[in-house]
Amino acid sequence: MLMKIAFIGFGGVGQALAKLFAEQRNKLKDDYGLDPIVVAVSDVMKGAVYHPEGLDINELLNVVKETGSVENYPDQAGLMKGWDSLTTIKQSNADMIVEVTFTDVKTGQPAIDHIRTAFEHGKSVVTTNKGPVALSYRELASLAERNNVFWGFEGTVMSGTPALRMPVTSLAGNDITEIKGILNGTTNYILTEMEKGKSYEEALQKAQELGYAEADPTSDVEGYDARYKTAILANYLMDTKIASDDIYCEGITNMTVEKIEEAKSANKKWKLLGRITKENGQVKATVKPELLDADDPLASINGATNAIVYECDLAGPIMLTGAGAGLIETGYSLLIDIINYQRQSAPTNR
Ligand code: HSE
Repeated sequence: MLMKIAFIGFGGVGQALAKLFAEQRNKLKDDYGLDPIVVAVSDVMKGAVYHPEGLDINELLNVVKETGSVENYPDQAGLMKGWDSLTTIKQSNADMIVEVTFTDVKTGQPAIDHIRTAFEHGKSVVTTNKGPVALSYRELASLAERNNVFWGFEGTVMSGTPALRMPVTSLAGNDITEIKGILNGTTNYILTEMEKGKSYEEALQKAQELGYAEADPTSDVEGYDARYKTAILANYLMDTKIASDDIYCEGITNMTVEKIEEAKSANKKWKLLGRITKENGQVKATVKPELLDADDPLASINGATNAIVYECDLAGPIMLTGAGAGLIETGYSLLIDIINYQRQSAPTNR
């Protein structure tokens, strides 16, 4: 199936997905019957191009790498330039919008407007932006349903580690009574380094150098990033309506080497956990540092790795662990969604 794709935003994550389209072209076609055609790119910094017949992905990536603007894509009949994101969403012939703009997670904008507009115009969306899911899940999910379009957001929690889809598909039939997890790589990295003797400040600086931290690391260390992910998990998997602002949130800014040493001598470890519990139909969620026994499976998760334990009434505790960030991993999360959309549209494909 030909899938006409428009990228709204074309930073590292968007380019990582475009590279996957180019590199995996044969596999996508042979194994999934999927033939992705990139018809448009619109990016506030890099400009916009649209060609209804499709752009050459390698050419597009080269032009961006060499000149920083997609508008330097070679002229050819039918090519249009300069459309803004909303025009591209409304007027291009794309049936799938890849929404990977630089979005303010506190307001969810401009991603929320992009997604809403796409759904209203009968277009499906995949995104890695957390804001729209954490803040407007119900509204956008019902808009997608009314317009009979697909919305994928696997990468919003744990990037390419399938924290959202795995429980829905592979744990089908269970009642998930609790979800708890290490949802932020930066803070887990800092806690791990502090256990090895680094100070909080040294460990944070290293996390920034390694590219784990958000542009403003306040979101990581104050627990807000984990709180958005906890809200997404609660709303999507626990059938509740919880606003991220209503989730109790405490980060790791008060953590000291002394506290960590004290825990160590009691054979315990501090971990920043997002925790969602369901009791008598009531869902409660928190994000805070918790003291775990050293033999708790989550206590063994070190560095920037993320992990989630799903407590299931039938299957028992199921733990999922993997990367929670990274360009390739996050680009890949969009591919998971796109392949699954393709499977729904053409269910005979595997
Ligand atoms: N800053 C985030 C983290 C990146 O450290 O986990 C992914 O949301």
